[in-house]
Amino acid sequence: MSYKTAILGATGAVGAEFLKILQQRNFPLASLKLLASSRSEGKKIAFGGEELTVEEVTEKSFDDVDLVLSSAGGSISEKFAPIAVKAGCVVVDNTSAYRMDPSVPLVVPEVNPEDIKTHKGIIANPNCSTIIMNVPVWPLHKVNPIRRIVVSTYQAASGAGAAAMDELAEGARAFLEGREFTPTVLPHPAAFNVFSHNSDVGPDGYNLEETKMVHETQKIFHAPEMLITATCVRVPVMRAHSEAINLQFTNPITEDEVREILSSAAGVRIVDDRERSYFPMPLDATDKDDILVGRIRSDISQPDGCGIEMFVSGDQIRKGAALNAVQIAEML
Ligand code: A2P
Repeated sequence: MSYKTAILGATGAVGAEFLKILQQRNFPLASLKLLASSRSEGKKIAFGGEELTVEEVTEKSFDDVDLVLSSAGGSISEKFAPIAVKAGCVVVDNTSAYRMDPSVPLVVPEVNPEDIKTHKGIIANPNCSTIIMNVPVWPLHKVNPIRRIVVSTYQAASGAGAAAMDELAEGARAFLEGREFTPTVLPHPAAFNVFSHNSDVGPDGYNLEETKMVHETQKIFHAPEMLITATCVRVPVMRAHSEAINLQFTNPITEDEVREILSSAAGVRIVDDRERSYFPMPLDATDKDDILVGRIRSDISQPDGCGIEMFVSGDQIRKGAALNAVQIAEML
């Protein structure tokens, strides 16, 4: 079998990664259609020795398509995913549009692959920070149920799209050359700076990214009772997110047990060399499929032995977005 596939948002940061991953993983393509806005119509993109031409997405774009990988923003998915489903496609949607819809499965293949079977045309790909946390935390939760997670993120510019990555590079050049620079994509200068995640802050004081990490994890883990709090922050990194994760388990757990569990966990690589002070770093996670996990230690503030601290880095565009979506499509 091979599949007539469309990438919606093909000219974006995640779209470019979709193209790369489909080739790298030899995805069984019968055809590939590149869709974006009218701004990109006619643009040529190289793919597997061919040149493909970007088309403007319209209501007719999905008539001859089986699978849609969608990453063009929530409002575009809200408009076009139902049209694609009506045309007979399965949509793997990388936006937040359908993630919390109870009728739409939200899937991290290493965690809840069985949920794919319940789909009615749309499968949602979780938020990048959620995926990067869920991959290493799930195998621990399966062995010793987690009661509470406290997570702080260090998020790359890539999460805000290709234009934000360009803005980080341009802002860094301007800073070093002593030039004025006014950001237009992100709300604050990204270079040589750290600021609260650029999503809206709700009445409870949590920004939307933080709220996504909480509710999406509860949905993916089928654990609505799990206590989770998050602080999400942008740092001047190009494309891999890091997270400091504090866990409270139901029963005591040692750091050696955590290492043992994670050493055979799918999608995880332990990078935890105390002697060389070598731990997960976004530059090392860039372009990698695995989530790097290190700084694994017992939490001294939980004297009952039920607490673990760890630090992770994962490629936001890859496992945090395009790779996870392609893995879902492969499972389909
Ligand atoms: P375009 O390049 O034509 O604007 P990123 O997340 O890197 O910012 O990329 C966003 C992706 O979503 C791009 O491929 C972009 O296409 C696409 N996109 C944005 N707005 C629309 C729209 N109104 N219709 C279709 N695609 C869109």
